[in-house]
Amino acid sequence: MPLFYLAGEAIKRRSHDEQSIQRCRGLAAADPAQLPPTLFSKLFKAGAEGLSDKEIFSDTRAYIVAGSDVTANTLTFLVWNVSRDSSTKQTLMTELETLSVDFHDEQLKNLPYLSQVIDEMLGPIG
Ligand code: HEM
Repeated sequence: MPLFYLAGEAIKRRSHDEQSIQRCRGLAAADPAQLPPTLFSKLFKAGAEGLSDKEIFSDTRAYIVAGSDVTANTLTFLVWNVSRDSSTKQTLMTELETLSVDFHDEQLKNLPYLSQVIDEMLGPIG
């Protein structure tokens, strides 16, 4: 029965999310330095003065909805724009080729031309 299956999956997901929230709360209480920097780190570090588990759970849903499509659409628009302009594409490719195979976020942040392309893309948004 698909409906029961979907309900079961939703319950499993919720339980997993609640366990993740509790794990982060435990980490924040035991050793805040160990808590990875995420959108929610400050909320967990705020302890009892912060939001309840239920409120954080609800916020995660809002961030997923607010952040997913808009990021995917913006990146798609960026790739489309870059691929239409051979000079921009070539300059960007030359810069990206300087990266090592196992590059990380920090190396990407240090690429000036890539940053300019992203700024140009986000410019009209604000
Ligand atoms: C390139 C990616 C993104 C773009 C272009 C974008 C764009 C926008 C824009 C134009 C607004 C409206 C701002 C306003 O009314 O002044 C907005 C609001 C918002 N965005 Fe994004 N966004 C992006 C990524 C994300 C991500 C990753 C998240 C969550 C993790 C997110 C969460 C939100 C939320 C919660 C709001 C409402 C803020 C408020 O009402 O104060 N966005 N975004």
